[in-house]
Amino acid sequence: MSHGDMNLTLKIWRQKNKEAKGIFETYPISGISPDMSFLEMVDVLNEKLIVEGKEPVAFDHDCREGICGMCSMYINGQPHGPKQGVTTCQLHMRSFKNGDTVVIEPWRAAAFPVIKDLAVDRSSFDRIMAAGGYVSVNTGNAQDANSLPISKEDADESFTSAACIGCGACVAACKNSSAMLFVSAKVSQYALLPQGQPERKSRVLAMVNQMEEEGFGSCTNTGACEAECPKGISITNIARLNREYLSASLSSK
Ligand code: SF4
Ligand code: FES
Repeated sequence: MSHGDMNLTLKIWRQKNKEAKGIFETYPISGISPDMSFLEMVDVLNEKLIVEGKEPVAFDHDCREGICGMCSMYINGQPHGPKQGVTTCQLHMRSFKNGDTVVIEPWRAAAFPVIKDLAVDRSSFDRIMAAGGYVSVNTGNAQDANSLPISKEDADESFTSAACIGCGACVAACKNSSAMLFVSAKVSQYALLPQGQPERKSRVLAMVNQMEEEGFGSCTNTGACEAECPKGISITNIARLNREYLSASLSSK
Protein backbone atom coordinates (compact mmCIF):
# COMPACT_ATOMS: atom_id res chain seq x y z
CA MET A 1 0.00 0.00 0.00
CA SER A 2 1.49 3.33 -1.00
CA HIS A 3 0.95 6.75 0.54
CA GLY A 4 -2.48 8.15 -0.27
CA ASP A 5 -4.12 4.78 -0.91
CA MET A 6 -7.62 4.35 0.44
CA ASN A 7 -9.52 1.84 2.51
CA LEU A 8 -13.21 1.59 1.71
CA THR A 9 -16.27 -0.39 2.71
CA LEU A 10 -18.27 -1.53 -0.30
CA LYS A 11 -21.92 -2.52 0.00
CA ILE A 12 -22.75 -4.30 -3.22
CA TRP A 13 -26.04 -5.72 -4.49
CA ARG A 14 -25.62 -9.45 -5.12
CA GLN A 15 -28.29 -11.31 -7.03
CA LYS A 16 -27.74 -14.75 -8.57
CA ASN A 17 -30.14 -14.37 -11.48
CA LYS A 18 -33.31 -12.67 -12.69
CA GLU A 19 -35.58 -14.66 -10.40
CA ALA A 20 -33.43 -14.67 -7.25
CA LYS A 21 -33.99 -12.25 -4.41
CA GLY A 22 -30.94 -10.01 -4.09
CA ILE A 23 -29.19 -8.75 -0.97
CA PHE A 24 -26.46 -6.26 -0.11
CA GLU A 25 -23.13 -7.84 0.82
CA THR A 26 -20.42 -5.88 2.60
CA TYR A 27 -16.81 -6.02 1.39
CA PRO A 28 -13.93 -4.13 3.01
CA ILE A 29 -11.26 -3.21 0.48
CA SER A 30 -7.85 -1.62 0.98
CA GLY A 31 -4.93 -0.28 -1.01
CA ILE A 32 -7.11 1.57 -3.53
CA SER A 33 -5.23 4.27 -5.43
CA PRO A 34 -7.11 7.57 -5.94
CA ASP A 35 -6.02 7.37 -9.60
CA MET A 36 -7.85 4.13 -10.24
CA SER A 37 -11.11 4.27 -12.14
CA PHE A 38 -14.18 3.03 -10.33
CA LEU A 39 -14.31 -0.09 -12.49
CA GLU A 40 -10.64 -0.83 -11.81
CA MET A 41 -11.50 -0.69 -8.13
CA VAL A 42 -14.25 -3.30 -8.71
CA ASP A 43 -11.68 -5.36 -10.68
CA VAL A 44 -9.42 -5.34 -7.60
CA LEU A 45 -12.31 -6.57 -5.48
CA ASN A 46 -13.13 -9.30 -8.02
CA GLU A 47 -9.53 -10.55 -8.08
CA LYS A 48 -9.66 -10.78 -4.30
CA LEU A 49 -13.00 -12.64 -4.41
CA ILE A 50 -11.64 -15.11 -6.97
CA VAL A 51 -8.57 -15.81 -4.82
CA GLU A 52 -10.92 -16.45 -1.88
CA GLY A 53 -12.92 -18.90 -4.01
CA LYS A 54 -15.96 -16.62 -4.15
CA GLU A 55 -18.10 -15.48 -7.09
CA PRO A 56 -16.85 -12.21 -8.61
CA VAL A 57 -19.33 -9.34 -8.91
CA ALA A 58 -21.00 -9.29 -12.36
CA PHE A 59 -21.13 -5.85 -13.98
CA ASP A 60 -21.38 -4.60 -17.55
CA HIS A 61 -18.54 -2.73 -19.23
CA ASP A 62 -16.94 -2.61 -22.64
CA CYS A 63 -15.15 0.52 -23.83
CA ARG A 64 -14.16 1.94 -20.43
CA GLU A 65 -13.91 5.35 -22.04
CA GLY A 66 -17.43 6.75 -21.88
CA ILE A 67 -18.60 5.60 -25.30
CA CYS A 68 -20.51 2.33 -25.07
CA GLY A 69 -22.95 3.16 -22.27
CA MET A 70 -22.60 -0.28 -20.67
CA CYS A 71 -21.26 0.58 -17.21
CA SER A 72 -24.60 1.14 -15.55
CA MET A 73 -24.82 1.23 -11.76
CA TYR A 74 -25.95 3.49 -8.94
CA ILE A 75 -23.13 4.61 -6.70
CA ASN A 76 -24.39 5.97 -3.38
CA GLY A 77 -27.82 6.33 -4.94
CA GLN A 78 -26.66 8.29 -7.99
CA PRO A 79 -26.55 6.90 -11.53
CA HIS A 80 -22.83 6.73 -12.47
CA GLY A 81 -21.86 8.16 -9.09
CA PRO A 82 -21.25 11.59 -7.58
CA LYS A 83 -19.55 13.33 -10.50
CA GLN A 84 -21.65 15.09 -13.15
CA GLY A 85 -21.12 14.46 -16.84
CA VAL A 86 -19.23 11.16 -16.59
CA THR A 87 -19.99 7.47 -16.87
CA THR A 88 -18.92 5.01 -14.15
CA CYS A 89 -15.85 4.00 -16.16
CA GLN A 90 -14.74 7.65 -16.25
CA LEU A 91 -15.19 8.15 -12.52
CA HIS A 92 -11.99 8.07 -10.44
CA MET A 93 -11.51 6.97 -6.88
CA ARG A 94 -10.27 10.45 -6.02
CA SER A 95 -13.97 11.40 -5.97
CA PHE A 96 -14.16 9.41 -2.70
CA LYS A 97 -12.47 9.78 0.67
CA ASN A 98 -10.43 7.29 2.65
CA GLY A 99 -12.81 5.41 4.99
CA ASP A 100 -15.94 6.02 2.86
CA THR A 101 -18.73 3.49 2.59
CA VAL A 102 -19.78 3.11 -1.04
CA VAL A 103 -23.14 1.57 -1.91
CA ILE A 104 -23.31 0.00 -5.39
CA GLU A 105 -26.58 -1.16 -6.98
CA PRO A 106 -27.92 -2.10 -10.42
CA TRP A 107 -30.36 0.18 -12.30
CA ARG A 108 -33.79 -0.11 -10.72
CA ALA A 109 -36.47 -0.02 -13.44
CA ALA A 110 -39.06 -2.60 -14.47
CA ALA A 111 -37.94 -2.26 -18.09
CA PHE A 112 -34.29 -3.03 -17.10
CA PRO A 113 -34.55 -6.33 -15.18
CA VAL A 114 -31.47 -7.41 -13.22
CA ILE A 115 -29.66 -10.32 -14.91
CA LYS A 116 -27.01 -10.81 -12.24
CA ASP A 117 -25.58 -8.57 -9.50
CA LEU A 118 -25.05 -5.17 -11.17
CA ALA A 119 -25.78 -6.30 -14.73
CA VAL A 120 -29.20 -5.43 -16.12
CA ASP A 121 -30.98 -6.31 -19.34
CA ARG A 122 -31.23 -3.11 -21.41
CA SER A 123 -32.57 -4.82 -24.54
CA SER A 124 -35.75 -2.71 -24.17
CA PHE A 125 -33.63 0.18 -25.53
CA ASP A 126 -32.54 -1.99 -28.47
CA ARG A 127 -36.17 -2.77 -29.29
CA ILE A 128 -37.06 0.93 -29.20
CA MET A 129 -34.18 1.58 -31.63
CA ALA A 130 -35.29 -1.28 -33.88
CA ALA A 131 -38.80 0.22 -33.97
CA GLY A 132 -37.64 3.44 -35.63
CA GLY A 133 -34.05 4.44 -34.96
CA TYR A 134 -32.86 4.18 -38.55
CA VAL A 135 -33.08 5.97 -41.89
CA SER A 136 -34.00 4.35 -45.21
CA VAL A 137 -30.94 4.46 -47.40
CA ASN A 138 -31.13 5.29 -51.08
CA THR A 139 -28.21 3.38 -52.54
CA GLY A 140 -27.75 5.39 -55.71
CA ASN A 141 -24.63 7.33 -56.66
CA ALA A 142 -22.85 9.18 -53.91
CA GLN A 143 -24.37 12.61 -53.67
CA ASP A 144 -22.48 15.84 -53.62
CA ALA A 145 -22.55 16.88 -49.95
CA ASN A 146 -23.61 20.38 -50.96
CA SER A 147 -26.75 19.07 -52.63
CA LEU A 148 -28.24 18.45 -49.16
CA PRO A 149 -27.90 21.78 -47.42
CA ILE A 150 -28.25 21.58 -43.62
CA SER A 151 -28.19 24.68 -41.47
CA LYS A 152 -25.33 24.90 -38.99
CA GLU A 153 -27.86 25.17 -36.17
CA ASP A 154 -29.70 21.96 -37.15
CA ALA A 155 -26.45 20.09 -37.78
CA ASP A 156 -25.15 21.07 -34.33
CA GLU A 157 -28.44 20.18 -32.61
CA SER A 158 -28.60 16.83 -34.35
CA PHE A 159 -25.00 16.09 -33.47
CA THR A 160 -25.58 16.98 -29.81
CA SER A 161 -28.60 14.64 -29.68
CA ALA A 162 -26.60 11.90 -31.37
CA ALA A 163 -24.17 11.99 -28.43
CA CYS A 164 -26.61 9.83 -26.41
CA ILE A 165 -24.87 6.53 -25.63
CA GLY A 166 -28.00 4.65 -24.51
CA CYS A 167 -26.67 4.16 -20.99
CA GLY A 168 -30.06 4.35 -19.29
CA ALA A 169 -29.00 6.76 -16.54
CA CYS A 170 -31.96 8.99 -17.48
CA VAL A 171 -34.35 6.11 -16.75
CA ALA A 172 -32.48 5.22 -13.56
CA ALA A 173 -32.63 8.84 -12.35
CA CYS A 174 -36.36 9.23 -13.01
CA LYS A 175 -38.85 8.41 -10.26
CA ASN A 176 -41.26 7.20 -12.97
CA SER A 177 -38.56 5.26 -14.87
CA SER A 178 -39.37 7.27 -17.97
CA ALA A 179 -37.26 6.77 -21.10
CA MET A 180 -38.32 10.07 -22.64
CA LEU A 181 -34.84 11.65 -22.63
CA PHE A 182 -33.33 8.69 -24.47
CA VAL A 183 -36.18 8.44 -27.01
CA SER A 184 -36.26 12.20 -27.52
CA ALA A 185 -32.52 12.26 -28.25
CA LYS A 186 -32.90 9.51 -30.85
CA VAL A 187 -36.00 11.07 -32.47
CA SER A 188 -34.36 14.53 -32.55
CA GLN A 189 -31.16 13.25 -34.11
CA TYR A 190 -33.11 12.13 -37.20
CA ALA A 191 -35.94 14.69 -37.24
CA LEU A 192 -33.42 17.53 -37.61
CA LEU A 193 -31.71 16.13 -40.70
CA PRO A 194 -33.02 15.80 -44.28
CA GLN A 195 -32.03 12.11 -44.25
CA GLY A 196 -34.49 11.54 -41.40
CA GLN A 197 -37.54 12.99 -43.18
CA PRO A 198 -38.96 9.91 -45.03
CA GLU A 199 -39.74 8.11 -41.74
CA ARG A 200 -40.15 11.23 -39.62
CA LYS A 201 -43.77 10.53 -38.64
CA SER A 202 -43.77 6.74 -38.53
CA ARG A 203 -40.52 6.82 -36.52
CA VAL A 204 -41.82 8.89 -33.63
CA LEU A 205 -45.07 6.93 -33.44
CA ALA A 206 -43.29 3.54 -33.51
CA MET A 207 -40.59 4.49 -31.00
CA VAL A 208 -43.03 6.00 -28.49
CA ASN A 209 -45.33 3.01 -28.90
CA GLN A 210 -42.45 0.60 -28.24
CA MET A 211 -41.35 2.68 -25.24
CA GLU A 212 -44.81 2.30 -23.73
CA GLU A 213 -44.92 -1.42 -24.50
CA GLU A 214 -41.62 -1.95 -22.69
CA GLY A 215 -43.13 -0.57 -19.48
CA PHE A 216 -41.23 2.70 -19.11
CA GLY A 217 -43.15 5.27 -17.06
CA SER A 218 -44.47 8.63 -18.17
CA CYS A 219 -42.55 11.90 -18.05
CA THR A 220 -43.61 14.44 -15.43
CA ASN A 221 -40.88 16.95 -16.29
CA THR A 222 -38.81 16.68 -13.11
CA GLY A 223 -35.56 17.19 -15.02
CA ALA A 224 -33.78 14.45 -13.02
CA CYS A 225 -32.84 12.75 -16.30
CA GLU A 226 -31.00 15.76 -17.69
CA ALA A 227 -29.12 16.26 -14.41
CA GLU A 228 -27.79 12.68 -14.48
CA CYS A 229 -27.11 12.30 -18.20
CA PRO A 230 -23.36 11.80 -18.72
CA LYS A 231 -23.61 13.28 -22.21
CA GLY A 232 -25.50 16.46 -21.32
CA ILE A 233 -28.60 15.61 -23.38
CA SER A 234 -31.03 18.46 -22.79
CA ILE A 235 -34.72 18.13 -21.91
CA THR A 236 -35.45 20.53 -24.78
CA ASN A 237 -35.33 17.28 -26.77
CA ILE A 238 -38.38 16.07 -24.83
CA ALA A 239 -40.33 19.17 -25.88
CA ARG A 240 -39.33 18.44 -29.48
CA LEU A 241 -40.40 14.80 -29.11
CA ASN A 242 -43.80 15.91 -27.80
CA ARG A 243 -44.25 18.26 -30.79
CA GLU A 244 -43.14 15.55 -33.22
CA TYR A 245 -45.48 13.03 -31.63
CA LEU A 246 -48.47 15.37 -31.64
CA SER A 247 -48.00 16.38 -35.24
CA ALA A 248 -47.49 12.75 -36.35
CA SER A 249 -50.56 11.49 -34.50
CA LEU A 250 -52.77 14.28 -35.86
CA SER A 251 -51.75 13.62 -39.43
CA SER A 252 -52.11 9.84 -39.12
CA LYS A 253 -55.81 10.11 -38.18
S1 SF4 B 1 -30.12 10.48 -22.76
FE1 SF4 B 1 -28.22 10.54 -21.54
S2 SF4 B 1 -28.68 9.33 -19.72
FE2 SF4 B 1 -30.21 8.80 -21.25
S3 SF4 B 1 -29.43 7.03 -22.35
FE3 SF4 B 1 -28.77 8.84 -23.51
S4 SF4 B 1 -26.74 9.33 -22.70
FE4 SF4 B 1 -27.68 7.95 -21.20
S1 FES C 1 -17.67 1.01 -20.15
FE1 FES C 1 -18.32 2.02 -21.98
S2 FES C 1 -19.23 3.86 -21.25
FE2 FES C 1 -18.42 2.95 -19.45
